[in-house]
Amino acid sequence: MRLWPPLPLLLRRRNRRRLITPSYFASYMAADLPPSGSSEPEDEPDEHLCETEGGGRSLPELPSPALTSIVPLLESERRLERAWEHWRRIGSPRLIVAPMVDNSELPFRMLCRKYGAEAAYTPMLHSRIFAENEKYRGMEFTTCKANIYFQFNLCGDHEMLGSTGTGTGIGYEMYPVRRYDKIFKTRIREDRPLFVQFCANDPDVLLEAAKKVEPYCDYVDINFGCPQRIAKRGNYGAFLMDNLPLIKSLVEKLANNLHVPVSCKIRIFPDLKDTLAYAKMLEEAGCALLAVHGRTRDEKDGKKFRADWDAIREVRHTVKIPVLANGNIRHMDDVRSCLMHTEAEGVLSAESLLENPALFAGFCTAEWKDESGSSYERCRFDQADLADEYLKMCEQYPVPWRMVRSHVHKMLGEWFSIQPQVREELNLQSKLTFEWLHEMVDKLRNLNGRIPLYAKAVDDNKNGKNGL
Ligand SMILES: Cc1cc2nc3c(=O)[nH]c(=O)nc-3n(C[C@H](O)[C@H](O)[C@H](O)COP(=O)(O)O)c2cc1C
Repeated sequence: MRLWPPLPLLLRRRNRRRLITPSYFASYMAADLPPSGSSEPEDEPDEHLCETEGGGRSLPELPSPALTSIVPLLESERRLERAWEHWRRIGSPRLIVAPMVDNSELPFRMLCRKYGAEAAYTPMLHSRIFAENEKYRGMEFTTCKANIYFQFNLCGDHEMLGSTGTGTGIGYEMYPVRRYDKIFKTRIREDRPLFVQFCANDPDVLLEAAKKVEPYCDYVDINFGCPQRIAKRGNYGAFLMDNLPLIKSLVEKLANNLHVPVSCKIRIFPDLKDTLAYAKMLEEAGCALLAVHGRTRDEKDGKKFRADWDAIREVRHTVKIPVLANGNIRHMDDVRSCLMHTEAEGVLSAESLLENPALFAGFCTAEWKDESGSSYERCRFDQADLADEYLKMCEQYPVPWRMVRSHVHKMLGEWFSIQPQVREELNLQSKLTFEWLHEMVDKLRNLNGRIPLYAKAVDDNKNGKNGL
């Protein structure tokens, strides 16, 4: 099916769209965030930060990198070189936590980083609310520094090797590493590389928001992929695909005025030619990294529609900037096939990581272990352990309780399906505490026995870290 109106016509269109209003966004974010100036939702426990003392942690005011003058648009060759230099400078990450509203927040990112994620996106932030509302900034965007070294093997045994002392220390239990001699090391240094994602439809407002996070991140990302109804009403995300001149102006604004590069996350058009023209336009506008979700705007259900890796490969061969592939990454075999098929620089995973944040370290759930035909070992380590670790991360890095609740549901979904009354107890618990949640996890362990995660036997991991 051809895109109508054709791309050149879309490019000529003027932006005649409405601005986003906070109420549109609030329901999408499930944050019940009041429009600025209205009363705060003080009595909603899930909206409070998950710390005993309460209160938002606002970011320290770091100076923005000195900006003597607005940097003129670099000519294209030099800009491409810089895009690649930057990509290499941040370590050319291949295993990346996708942006997820309410779900790719700091404690979850740090957990995924511990288990092999090499970079992470923040949840989508609303550029206008972010620019205007200090409380929103404090609640929805947090980051940290930590220098902690771990090692673990594929059986899930892990131990803390030490800390440089500059971080705050996460205080994991020490486990003896035993059984396998192949040890993989992971190093949590800090919440970097970090891609901060915004939705926007006004270049000036987007720039104002982006300036506030510039000192803390490696890319400022623009979400051009959100297909939800709320994005349609608010005129952002994938609905800007109907207004390519606006997309172009958003990217140009950031590319010409920020010191960190701008990245974009897109969906594909039904027609490959339109997708390729779109990707090329983004590159020319100054996008330095392109994440391609291989589904169209109408293919909302990730379980129903397979992502089109062929289209991602074509984009990879059409543009000269680094490209990331998104869609259908459920375990490390998918990572390997996707990288091979698309030739992308890296992959993003979302839904499967929520269930199994140790995916990038080579662990998988029983559902997937039989797919590859390789021999798998049953681990002594499971999603209940991951949930406990996540809760400890939250104690250190407070986030709104609604995020904690959401992760516990996703990580322990399989456990709850065997013990639905425990899920019900969680749902009825309007005010959560860490003590209550840890006890709930113990209760599931005692009732269920363990539902193990699996990892490939050592001999199957000939290729090095994570089997890649
Ligand atoms: C809970 C949830 C929240 C999401 N929020 C965002 C978001 O804030 N920004 C975005 O670009 N995509 C968002 N997505 C889409 C994912 O980043 C990803 O593109 C999509 O889920 C496909 O990847 P997957 O097949 O690995 O799940 C979200 C997905 C989920 C499951």
